[in-house]
Amino acid sequence: MAIQTIGIIGAGIMGNGIAQVCAAAGYQTIMQDVAEAALERGIKTINASLERGVRKGTMTEAEQAALVARIRTTTRAEDLADADLVIEAATENETLKVKILQGLDRILRPGAIIATNTSSISITRLAAATSRPERFVGMHFFNPVPVMALVEVISGLQTSEATAQEVAELARSLGKTAIGVKNSAGFAVNRILCPMLNEAIFTLQEGIASAEEIDAGMKLGCNHPIGPLALCDMVGLDTLLAVMNVLYTTFNDPKYRPATLLQEMVDAGMYGRKSGRGFYSYA
Ligand code: CAA
Repeated sequence: MAIQTIGIIGAGIMGNGIAQVCAAAGYQTIMQDVAEAALERGIKTINASLERGVRKGTMTEAEQAALVARIRTTTRAEDLADADLVIEAATENETLKVKILQGLDRILRPGAIIATNTSSISITRLAAATSRPERFVGMHFFNPVPVMALVEVISGLQTSEATAQEVAELARSLGKTAIGVKNSAGFAVNRILCPMLNEAIFTLQEGIASAEEIDAGMKLGCNHPIGPLALCDMVGLDTLLAVMNVLYTTFNDPKYRPATLLQEMVDAGMYGRKSGRGFYSYA
């Protein structure tokens, strides 16, 4: 079955980026969120991202308009019924995701694929919340989605080989490189990346160096495109904390404990770019 229509649940940082790349590849795209305001913000972000291309001359205004026109927005989950595949990109909260996925499972026709963009939650467990675990898969994009070339395709215990292959093929059609990963907390990339980001926060918390110095150190000393603390702000401190907590509780190893400063900043509502303040200010 060829995938023609793709549904996306969530219009936040990841959801709108995924909608943009799906529409750019020519798929009919339906972006669903519970709040109209979130959908409007999502479309605004997509337009801002596409305008970079228009300014550079890699896209015309007409192409931008045509791409955005391929994205239908809705607050009603029932409008996803025609989708051949739905990518869930809601907040990183297991209870919320399970509720969304169970609702989606009832709406979609049998055979349609459900993918989740979770950064760390068990694909096997999320799949088991649906009646189609063999048609359930992890499809993990990276931020900013239009720029980052990777998609992790994560197979849960019951994910069929055909499903994983179809989704890897879809990722390639979006211009991404797919890597196949077994279900495990944090999968492959976040298992490696997030402890490094957490360690940068420990380094700051212990007064070893300033935020600017830590970031300069990793940019200039290790050739990272941006420093780890700036990357924390980009990923979202709430998301990073959620991933660290999953690693910590799953592996039960103190090396994964979240830095106190990370917890404190999340408690204070300092989530990074999306809230205007994290390790840096974005006013
Ligand atoms: N949409 C479209 N294009 C964008 C964009 C966006 N949102 N953001 C940046 N770009 C484009 C720019 O237009 C520019 O294109 P050209 O080279 O063609 O001119 C290019 O990307 C570079 O952008 P900038 O010059 O503005 O800034 P930069 O050089 O600092 O690059 C960056 C920005 C690509 C984000 C770079 O800083 C980077 O690679 N950072 C690391 C990102 C990263 O590690 N992401 C993974 C996060 S982890 C994750 O997502 C997983 C998880 O589950 C937590």
